[in-house]
This record gives sequence, C-alpha cells and structure tokens, in this order.
Amino acid sequence: MHNISITQTKNNKQKPKDEALVFGRQFTDHMFLMDYKEGEGWYDARIVPYQPLEMDPAAMIFHYGQTVFEGLKAYRTKDDTIQLFRPEENVKRLNRSNARMCIPEVDEDIALEAIKTLVDLDRDWVPHKEGTSLYIRPFVIATEPYLGVSASKTYTFMIILSPVGAYYDAGIDPVKIAVENDYIRAVKGGTGEAKTAGNYAGSMIAQENVAKKGYAQVLWLDGHEKKYIEEVGSMNVFFKIDGKVITPHLSGSILPGVTRKSVIQLLMDWGIEVQERPILLSEVLTAHANGLLEEAFGSGTAAVISPIGELFYNETSYVINNHQTGALSKRVYDTLTGIQYGTIVDPHDWIVKVNPK
Ligand code: COI
Repeated sequence: MHNISITQTKNNKQKPKDEALVFGRQFTDHMFLMDYKEGEGWYDARIVPYQPLEMDPAAMIFHYGQTVFEGLKAYRTKDDTIQLFRPEENVKRLNRSNARMCIPEVDEDIALEAIKTLVDLDRDWVPHKEGTSLYIRPFVIATEPYLGVSASKTYTFMIILSPVGAYYDAGIDPVKIAVENDYIRAVKGGTGEAKTAGNYAGSMIAQENVAKKGYAQVLWLDGHEKKYIEEVGSMNVFFKIDGKVITPHLSGSILPGVTRKSVIQLLMDWGIEVQERPILLSEVLTAHANGLLEEAFGSGTAAVISPIGELFYNETSYVINNHQTGALSKRVYDTLTGIQYGTIVDPHDWIVKVNPK
C-alpha cells in the first residue's frame, strides 16, 4: 500500500443517465494527482474533488507539448463487480511513452494503486447499460515555468474518469474510413509509438477534412513511401483476407495497442492464422478486387472493436462485406467485451477486480 491521501467532495455531481452517455464529455467527482520535482522524485499522491487546475502560463506543457497519456476502462459486471482490463499494460506503456518524451518514470505499483483507489471511490459512476463503461485517463504534464527547449524539471501525473458510451456516432455499426494521402501521422524514430498529445494534434487537420465528407476517421499510410498501412485515427487495424488475418507490425511508428495485442491473442487461441507484418495498401485493394477482402476492423480501448464497412481512396469507395459486421469481427467483439464485462471466462488473467466486496 502506498500513501494516497483522499479528500472527498462535499458536492457530489449529478450523474448522467446511461442512455445519454457519449464519449468523454462528463467527469466524475474526484481526480488523482501526484507531483514530481527533480532531485525529490514523485511526491504528494492525492485524490481530491474534481476541479480546474491552476497553472503557470509559462508551464512547458503549453509551449512544447511535453506530455503523455493513457486510456483504459472500468467495467461493471452483472453482479456489480467493477473490473479493469489489463491495466498493467497501460501503466507499462505510460512509462515507455514517458521514456520517449523525457518524462521521469512513474512507479508502476503506485500508478496501478492510484487507478484502483480512484475508481473504487467513484465506483457509482461506472455505468450499467450494455456498451457503457468508465473511461480512465491517466496523463502526465510538464509543469516547469520555462521557455527554453529542454525537459521540464517538474511534472504532475493525473488521472481523471469519464463515464462513456460508444466512441463513434455509428455505435458498433461499421464505420467508413478514408485513406489519407496528403498528411502523415508519424515516421520511425518520431513519436508515433508514444501516446503523446502532438501525434493527435497533428492528425486533426486530416480528420477534419474527411469528417466533412462523412468519414469517421482516416487510415494512415507510412511516412516514407505512403504505400504501407499503419493505423486508423484512434485504432489499430486488422484485415481478414482469404481466411487469414493481417495487421501492421509494430514498426516503430504505430501505437502498440493493448486491444490490438489482446485481439491477436484471441485469434491465436482460435487457431486463426494472424500475421503481423508490413501491409501494402495495394495488397488490400487487390484483395478487394479479387473478392478476397472478407472483413476489416479497428481495435482500441475507446473504439473497442469497430468494423470497417468502407475504405475510400483516390476518389474510389471500396465497400467491405456489404457494410455489414463480419462474423469474425463480431466474434472478436463479443469475446473481448464478454471478458471485459465478466459474462465469459477470462482465459488469460486479463481482468483485475477493483476492491471486490
Ligand atoms: C483510446 O482508445 O483509449 C485512445 O486513447 C484513443 C483516444 C485518443 C480516444
């Protein structure tokens, strides 16, 4: 046990109705904070009422974007157990992102305990309705007031919680994705495999452009040749071609998704051939032309499993599985969410219960 002080709110907020939940717009009663100072390390782990921060306008986060974040969820089971899905994976990735962004490591045990303690305190905020959950957003920001470009000497690690519904307006129906031909997201050696704000800030222009045309997100191509498939806006991507499943390998420029890793494991459990390797866009389009592109889906914590019903590239639409959710996408979705919500057995010890009663 670590020392996390808790100051409870005197004014519990009104909770949104489960039916009205969207993604990421409402926040719970409490938040976690812990500070860092060079020479002292991390100190003052505390949970306080959810509130705005007072920040120095010169804090380095505002100027140079030295920050990382994570995303995971807490789920309510039928018997009102609150449980997390592979939280230690998120904490490990947080530290890999920290290393890339010159942010000091956070003690993984403290981070996990902070997540569990905060979720436990706000457990009434975990919604009940199918498909809803409590999204957990740990993040670190550079707080030193300094305009020189160098790593900050002070940081704050925070966790906030948001009760959420589906990430996409389409819910779990297939989404339409446009292949991005002008902008790139990341290159090997850049920050693409770190979960850092700049990757998302740099992607917004492409996202805005395709949203105007009715596409949910963009499919990023590699930054060198614009030939290889990397990932979708907030998801990793899988294709089922001629009975086999392929997904881009972790090349150094794509996000190592926890859901991606879990999907690969499930496919292997089922004896389905899954290949992690470079994938040419042309390979997918040729498979489509030959009638061999059976399914495509994205995976992510926020997006869960999101079938892709259409790819748009060079003014041409490529409809996949007649805009329907394919059998494999459904099986992956049902199994993953079944494990997360405790309706099916967790074969890999992925679930961590929060203060079981
Ligand atoms: C997640 O899936 O948790 C993500 O971090 C994607 C996010 C940018 C909404």
